[in-house]
Amino acid sequence: MTSSTPTWHFVEKSTLHGTGVFAATDIPAGTEIFEYKGKRITPEQADAMHPVNPDDPFHTFFFALSCGKVIDGGQKGNDARWINHSCEPNCEAQENSSGKKVFIIALRDIAAGEELFYDYGLILDGRITKTLRRQYQCLCGAPDCRGTMLALTDRQKAAIKAARKPKKEPAPTAKDKPRKRQAA
Ligand SMILES: C[S@@+](CC[C@H](N)C(=O)[O-])C[C@H]1O[C@@H](n2cnc3c(N)ncnc32)[C@H](O)[C@@H]1O
Ligand SMILES: [Zn+2]
Repeated sequence: MTSSTPTWHFVEKSTLHGTGVFAATDIPAGTEIFEYKGKRITPEQADAMHPVNPDDPFHTFFFALSCGKVIDGGQKGNDARWINHSCEPNCEAQENSSGKKVFIIALRDIAAGEELFYDYGLILDGRITKTLRRQYQCLCGAPDCRGTMLALTDRQKAAIKAARKPKKEPAPTAKDKPRKRQAA
């Protein structure tokens, strides 16, 4: 007897960034699409590695695990390494109970042809400065895009949202109010 796991995805050029991963067929919510594979390295090894692309020095194939190790999708990785980030993703990256493996799970029903995204929520040591936010700029275009692939606190998210809101016009004074024309 043969058993086959359906292939839920295909890899193609993305309009968002470089290469992306797309649904090959309708994917029901909750489906485990595939594992995020790659060599396990230490955070120190990750920090010491040269950028994959010197023209895009903040490009990353790293996935930080809660056990402290990092998955380097650039070494022994699979197609999961091509999944782009979105602030309103249709997938999530879930660690298994041992915290040593990561699986990409559909957050909602996904239609065939849709690009797959998860929220990278990248965590860096130290203060998240404007420069860092720019270096990890998000171009997902979602209405609530937080502008960066970095993880932000709720306070930081609220501050960005507030800064984006158009400033309220001051209430018109009597002088500004349009006057009715007096009939001649
Ligand atoms: C794991 S790769 C994803 C595959 C990538 N499209 C490629 O062709 O290499 C992650 C990199 O893709 C880029 N990227 C992914 N999602 C992005 C987004 N929403 N906005 C801007 N760049 C993004 C960033 O350079 C990020 O470091
Ligand atoms: Zn975004």
